[in-house]
Amino acid sequence: MSSQDLRIGEKIIFLLQCSSTNDLAKESAQMGEPHGTIYRCNVQTAGRGKEGKSWFSMPGKGLYFSVILKPEKNTSLCWLPYISGISVCKSVKELFGLDSLIKWPNDVYLKGKKFCGILIESSFGSDGIDYAVVGVGINVNHNREDFPKELRKKATSIKIVTGKEVKIELLFEKIIEKLNFWYEKLVSGQVSFIHKTLNSLSLIPVGSNIEILDGEKRVKGEFRGFDIQGALLLKDKNRIQRIYAGDMISYKI
Ligand code: BTN
Repeated sequence: MSSQDLRIGEKIIFLLQCSSTNDLAKESAQMGEPHGTIYRCNVQTAGRGKEGKSWFSMPGKGLYFSVILKPEKNTSLCWLPYISGISVCKSVKELFGLDSLIKWPNDVYLKGKKFCGILIESSFGSDGIDYAVVGVGINVNHNREDFPKELRKKATSIKIVTGKEVKIELLFEKIIEKLNFWYEKLVSGQVSFIHKTLNSLSLIPVGSNIEILDGEKRVKGEFRGFDIQGALLLKDKNRIQRIYAGDMISYKI
Protein backbone atom coordinates (compact mmCIF):
# COMPACT_ATOMS: atom_id res chain seq x y z
CA MET A 1 0.00 0.00 0.00
CA SER A 2 1.44 3.43 -0.90
CA SER A 3 1.13 6.34 1.52
CA GLN A 4 -1.35 7.90 -0.92
CA ASP A 5 -3.84 5.09 -0.16
CA LEU A 6 -4.00 6.00 3.52
CA ARG A 7 -6.74 8.37 4.55
CA ILE A 8 -6.16 11.36 6.77
CA GLY A 9 -7.40 10.31 10.23
CA GLU A 10 -6.87 6.58 9.63
CA LYS A 11 -5.06 6.68 12.97
CA ILE A 12 -5.83 9.30 15.63
CA ILE A 13 -3.81 9.67 18.80
CA PHE A 14 -5.67 11.63 21.46
CA LEU A 15 -3.96 12.95 24.57
CA LEU A 16 -5.44 14.88 27.44
CA GLN A 17 -2.42 17.18 27.57
CA CYS A 18 0.71 17.72 25.51
CA SER A 19 3.20 20.48 24.85
CA SER A 20 2.30 20.97 21.18
CA THR A 21 0.58 18.57 18.77
CA ASN A 22 2.84 19.90 16.00
CA ASP A 23 5.93 18.87 17.95
CA LEU A 24 4.53 15.37 18.56
CA ALA A 25 3.52 14.96 14.92
CA LYS A 26 6.92 16.16 13.64
CA GLU A 27 8.87 13.84 15.94
CA SER A 28 6.78 10.81 15.02
CA ALA A 29 6.75 11.64 11.27
CA GLN A 30 10.54 11.68 11.50
CA MET A 31 10.45 8.27 13.23
CA GLY A 32 8.35 6.77 10.41
CA GLU A 33 4.74 7.38 11.47
CA PRO A 34 2.75 7.09 8.23
CA HIS A 35 0.79 9.59 6.18
CA GLY A 36 -2.58 10.55 7.65
CA THR A 37 -1.88 10.05 11.37
CA ILE A 38 -3.36 12.77 13.58
CA TYR A 39 -2.24 13.95 17.01
CA ARG A 40 -4.98 15.70 18.94
CA CYS A 41 -5.02 16.93 22.49
CA ASN A 42 -7.38 18.56 24.92
CA VAL A 43 -4.90 21.18 26.06
CA GLN A 44 -1.45 22.24 24.89
CA THR A 45 1.01 23.63 27.41
CA ALA A 46 3.25 25.13 24.70
CA GLY A 47 0.98 25.57 21.67
CA ARG A 48 2.88 27.36 18.91
CA GLY A 49 1.68 29.88 16.36
CA LYS A 50 3.37 31.55 13.40
CA GLU A 51 6.60 33.55 13.76
CA GLY A 52 7.43 32.00 17.13
CA LYS A 53 4.27 33.32 18.77
CA SER A 54 2.44 31.13 21.26
CA TRP A 55 -1.06 29.78 20.58
CA PHE A 56 -3.61 30.21 23.35
CA SER A 57 -4.88 26.66 24.06
CA MET A 58 -7.66 26.39 26.60
CA PRO A 59 -8.55 23.02 28.19
CA GLY A 60 -11.74 21.56 26.79
CA LYS A 61 -12.82 24.66 24.87
CA GLY A 62 -10.76 24.48 21.72
CA LEU A 63 -9.84 21.98 19.03
CA TYR A 64 -6.09 21.39 18.67
CA PHE A 65 -4.67 18.82 16.30
CA SER A 66 -1.86 18.14 13.82
CA VAL A 67 -1.95 15.97 10.72
CA ILE A 68 1.06 14.16 9.26
CA LEU A 69 1.15 14.33 5.45
CA LYS A 70 3.61 12.43 3.31
CA PRO A 71 2.77 13.41 -0.25
CA GLU A 72 4.69 12.47 -3.41
CA LYS A 73 8.14 14.10 -3.33
CA ASN A 74 7.30 16.70 -6.01
CA THR A 75 3.88 17.83 -4.71
CA SER A 76 3.48 21.62 -4.66
CA LEU A 77 3.13 22.49 -1.00
CA CYS A 78 1.96 26.05 -1.55
CA TRP A 79 -1.63 24.76 -1.73
CA LEU A 80 -1.50 23.09 1.71
CA PRO A 81 -2.35 26.19 3.75
CA TYR A 82 -5.23 26.92 1.39
CA ILE A 83 -6.81 23.45 1.44
CA SER A 84 -6.56 23.48 5.24
CA GLY A 85 -8.31 26.86 5.52
CA ILE A 86 -10.91 25.85 2.92
CA SER A 87 -11.65 22.64 4.89
CA VAL A 88 -12.34 24.68 8.03
CA CYS A 89 -14.57 27.17 6.16
CA LYS A 90 -16.57 24.42 4.47
CA SER A 91 -17.00 22.56 7.78
CA VAL A 92 -18.38 25.48 9.76
CA LYS A 93 -20.68 26.34 6.86
CA GLU A 94 -22.05 22.81 6.67
CA LEU A 95 -22.42 22.30 10.43
CA PHE A 96 -23.46 25.74 11.65
CA GLY A 97 -24.39 27.69 8.51
CA LEU A 98 -21.56 30.16 9.23
CA ASP A 99 -19.76 32.12 6.53
CA SER A 100 -16.10 32.20 7.47
CA LEU A 101 -13.31 33.62 5.33
CA ILE A 102 -9.60 33.02 4.80
CA LYS A 103 -7.10 35.73 5.61
CA TRP A 104 -3.96 34.97 3.63
CA PRO A 105 -2.19 32.72 4.02
CA ASN A 106 -4.15 30.53 6.44
CA ASP A 107 -6.04 32.30 9.21
CA VAL A 108 -9.78 31.79 9.28
CA TYR A 109 -12.10 34.60 10.32
CA LEU A 110 -15.69 34.87 11.51
CA LYS A 111 -17.35 38.28 11.61
CA GLY A 112 -14.02 40.07 11.20
CA LYS A 113 -12.18 38.22 13.99
CA LYS A 114 -9.82 35.24 13.93
CA PHE A 115 -11.12 31.93 15.28
CA CYS A 116 -8.74 29.50 13.59
CA GLY A 117 -4.98 29.48 13.06
CA ILE A 118 -3.00 26.98 11.01
CA LEU A 119 0.71 26.23 11.36
CA ILE A 120 2.35 24.17 8.62
CA GLU A 121 5.84 22.81 9.16
CA SER A 122 7.66 20.76 6.54
CA SER A 123 10.82 18.75 6.23
CA PHE A 124 12.70 18.25 2.97
CA GLY A 125 15.37 15.80 1.89
CA SER A 126 17.64 16.09 -1.16
CA ASP A 127 14.96 14.49 -3.38
CA GLY A 128 12.03 16.61 -2.21
CA ILE A 129 9.51 16.64 0.59
CA ASP A 130 9.79 14.11 3.44
CA TYR A 131 6.70 15.19 5.34
CA ALA A 132 4.52 18.15 6.24
CA VAL A 133 2.63 18.68 9.46
CA VAL A 134 -0.59 20.71 9.37
CA GLY A 135 -1.42 22.04 12.83
CA VAL A 136 -4.91 23.42 13.35
CA GLY A 137 -6.08 25.41 16.37
CA ILE A 138 -9.74 26.46 16.62
CA ASN A 139 -11.50 28.55 19.22
CA VAL A 140 -14.71 26.58 19.62
CA ASN A 141 -16.50 27.04 22.95
CA HIS A 142 -14.59 30.03 24.32
CA ASN A 143 -16.47 32.90 25.89
CA ARG A 144 -15.14 36.41 25.36
CA GLU A 145 -13.70 36.58 28.88
CA ASP A 146 -11.82 33.29 28.37
CA PHE A 147 -9.36 35.12 26.09
CA PRO A 148 -6.52 37.14 27.58
CA LYS A 149 -7.37 40.87 27.43
CA GLU A 150 -4.92 41.57 24.61
CA LEU A 151 -6.65 39.00 22.36
CA ARG A 152 -10.27 40.02 22.97
CA LYS A 153 -10.40 42.63 20.20
CA LYS A 154 -9.09 40.28 17.51
CA ALA A 155 -10.13 36.77 18.56
CA THR A 156 -13.50 35.09 18.49
CA SER A 157 -14.95 31.59 18.81
CA ILE A 158 -17.74 29.64 17.16
CA LYS A 159 -19.75 29.84 20.41
CA ILE A 160 -19.39 33.62 20.60
CA VAL A 161 -20.77 33.90 17.06
CA THR A 162 -23.58 31.32 17.29
CA GLY A 163 -24.46 31.84 20.97
CA LYS A 164 -24.51 28.06 21.37
CA GLU A 165 -22.18 25.41 22.79
CA VAL A 166 -20.71 23.31 19.98
CA LYS A 167 -19.83 19.59 19.98
CA ILE A 168 -16.07 19.70 19.38
CA GLU A 169 -16.05 16.04 18.27
CA LEU A 170 -18.52 16.74 15.49
CA LEU A 171 -16.44 19.63 14.21
CA PHE A 172 -13.25 17.55 14.30
CA GLU A 173 -14.87 14.72 12.28
CA LYS A 174 -16.23 17.16 9.70
CA ILE A 175 -12.85 18.86 9.24
CA ILE A 176 -11.17 15.47 8.70
CA GLU A 177 -13.80 14.59 6.07
CA LYS A 178 -13.17 17.93 4.30
CA LEU A 179 -9.40 17.61 4.55
CA ASN A 180 -9.59 14.21 2.85
CA PHE A 181 -11.74 15.71 0.08
CA TRP A 182 -9.50 18.73 -0.56
CA TYR A 183 -6.24 16.82 -0.16
CA GLU A 184 -7.45 14.40 -2.82
CA LYS A 185 -8.09 17.39 -5.12
CA LEU A 186 -4.53 18.54 -4.53
CA VAL A 187 -2.81 15.21 -5.17
CA SER A 188 -4.94 14.50 -8.22
CA GLY A 189 -3.87 17.83 -9.73
CA GLN A 190 -7.24 19.63 -9.53
CA VAL A 191 -5.67 22.91 -8.47
CA SER A 192 -8.00 25.06 -10.56
CA PHE A 193 -10.88 23.93 -8.32
CA ILE A 194 -8.85 24.83 -5.20
CA HIS A 195 -7.83 28.14 -6.80
CA LYS A 196 -11.45 29.10 -7.60
CA THR A 197 -12.60 28.19 -4.08
CA LEU A 198 -9.73 30.12 -2.49
CA ASN A 199 -10.59 33.29 -4.44
CA SER A 200 -14.23 32.96 -3.38
CA LEU A 201 -13.31 32.61 0.31
CA SER A 202 -10.82 35.46 0.60
CA LEU A 203 -11.46 37.82 3.52
CA ILE A 204 -9.73 40.58 1.60
CA PRO A 205 -11.56 41.78 -1.51
CA VAL A 206 -9.56 42.36 -4.69
CA GLY A 207 -8.54 46.04 -4.87
CA SER A 208 -7.86 46.38 -1.10
CA ASN A 209 -4.63 47.98 0.10
CA ILE A 210 -2.55 45.47 2.00
CA GLU A 211 0.87 45.17 3.62
CA ILE A 212 2.80 41.89 3.65
CA LEU A 213 5.71 40.80 5.77
CA ASP A 214 7.86 38.72 3.43
CA GLY A 215 10.76 37.50 5.61
CA GLU A 216 12.38 40.69 6.88
CA LYS A 217 10.87 42.77 4.08
CA ARG A 218 7.61 44.74 4.26
CA VAL A 219 5.77 45.22 0.97
CA LYS A 220 2.70 47.36 0.38
CA GLY A 221 0.33 47.36 -2.53
CA GLU A 222 -3.05 46.52 -3.94
CA PHE A 223 -4.38 42.96 -3.54
CA ARG A 224 -5.11 41.40 -6.95
CA GLY A 225 -6.24 37.89 -5.91
CA PHE A 226 -4.32 34.63 -6.30
CA ASP A 227 -2.81 33.12 -9.41
CA ILE A 228 -3.08 29.49 -10.51
CA GLN A 229 0.30 28.71 -8.92
CA GLY A 230 -1.10 29.75 -5.52
CA ALA A 231 0.84 33.03 -5.32
CA LEU A 232 -0.73 36.16 -3.85
CA LEU A 233 -0.72 38.95 -6.44
CA LEU A 234 0.31 42.36 -5.15
CA LYS A 235 0.24 45.44 -7.38
CA ASP A 236 3.05 47.67 -6.27
CA LYS A 237 3.40 50.91 -8.33
CA ASN A 238 3.44 49.60 -11.88
CA ARG A 239 4.32 45.96 -11.44
CA ILE A 240 2.63 42.91 -10.06
CA GLN A 241 4.60 40.91 -7.51
CA ARG A 242 3.85 37.24 -6.86
CA ILE A 243 4.20 36.32 -3.18
CA TYR A 244 4.24 32.68 -2.07
CA ALA A 245 4.83 33.04 1.67
CA GLY A 246 4.62 35.65 4.39
CA ASP A 247 2.02 37.22 6.60
CA MET A 248 -0.51 39.95 5.95
CA ILE A 249 0.17 42.54 8.63
CA SER A 250 -2.38 45.12 7.63
CA TYR A 251 -5.27 45.59 5.25
CA LYS A 252 -7.79 48.27 4.40
CA ILE A 253 -10.94 47.05 2.70
C1 BTN B 1 -1.24 30.88 14.01
O1 BTN B 1 -2.28 31.42 13.61
O2 BTN B 1 -0.30 31.54 14.47
C2 BTN B 1 -1.13 29.38 13.89
C3 BTN B 1 -1.67 28.71 15.12
C4 BTN B 1 -1.61 27.19 15.05
C5 BTN B 1 -2.03 26.54 16.34
C6 BTN B 1 -2.14 25.04 16.24
S1 BTN B 1 -2.91 24.32 17.64
C7 BTN B 1 -2.46 22.73 17.09
C8 BTN B 1 -1.06 22.84 16.54
N1 BTN B 1 -0.06 22.72 17.58
C9 BTN B 1 0.64 23.82 17.79
O3 BTN B 1 1.53 23.97 18.64
N2 BTN B 1 0.23 24.77 16.93
C10 BTN B 1 -0.83 24.29 16.06
